[in-house]
Amino acid sequence: MALNEIAKRSNKTVYRDGDLCYKVFAADYNKADIFNEALNQTRVEETGLFIPKVHEVKRLDDGRLAIVMDYVEGKSLMQLESENPAKSAEYLTRLIDVQLSMHALSAPNLNKQRDKFTRKIDLSGLDATTRYELHVRLDSMPKHHKLCHGDFNPSNVIITNDDRACIIDWSHATIGNASADAARTYLLFKLAGNDKTAENYMTAFCKKSDTARQYVDQWLPIVAASQMVKGKPEEKEILGKWVDVCQYE
Ligand SMILES: Nc1ncnc2c1ncn2[C@@H]1O[C@H](COP(=O)(O)OP(=O)(O)O)[C@@H](O)[C@H]1O
Ligand SMILES: [Mg+2]
Repeated sequence: MALNEIAKRSNKTVYRDGDLCYKVFAADYNKADIFNEALNQTRVEETGLFIPKVHEVKRLDDGRLAIVMDYVEGKSLMQLESENPAKSAEYLTRLIDVQLSMHALSAPNLNKQRDKFTRKIDLSGLDATTRYELHVRLDSMPKHHKLCHGDFNPSNVIITNDDRACIIDWSHATIGNASADAARTYLLFKLAGNDKTAENYMTAFCKKSDTARQYVDQWLPIVAASQMVKGKPEEKEILGKWVDVCQYE
């Protein structure tokens, strides 16, 4: 096996081996999360959406687990944008078009977004009164069954050499409300410090999907509380502000 490293994170490394891609997880990575990611991706395959097909979950000689999937030749929208910032508006439009085409699909066997949010609110570390508010809000939101990615951002969309968009990284996929998925993308831009892109994204998403901004905004306290579970100290303050919006509405 001639593995070429293509991306490295603290707890995983992605390699290419010819036509295959190995997403290799650190030895202490939660095993159920690895199998869940592979299962999610397999279920999304069934929708016919263009994504890397999963071949197997494999234990490597060094003991680590890897999801083995198709390698997708191309560049992520993040890479394209950094190489060609003049085209950033075009790439943002592409990002939204790809996201909306995904939201048009459903994958009945995927986990439910609502269940995921319920669990995350409980694990957020927020006080009981705030958690109660968030649960009430979540209960009041419309129940949809759309394919949602849960981590939809420019690094997870690869544009192939023949200009097709391939969505990768399905660990957080659920079926649920598309506006929650959009609120999450907005939050990811904000957390990355891309305020301007976040606003442009939100405006364009609402326009293209004919969704009221206020409606997407209603999801922000819920997605912010969910993000708190990651416990990143540098995000604590900004997430707290979004959750607080809950108290004043
Ligand atoms: N199937 C694939 N084909 C080509 N490149 C991939 C593939 N899967 C992942 N990558 C590359 O590795 C990077 C990290 O993989 P990803 O699954 O998004 O992991 P993470 O959870 O760390 O974001 C991606 O941004 C992409 O550049
Ligand atoms: Mg990713």
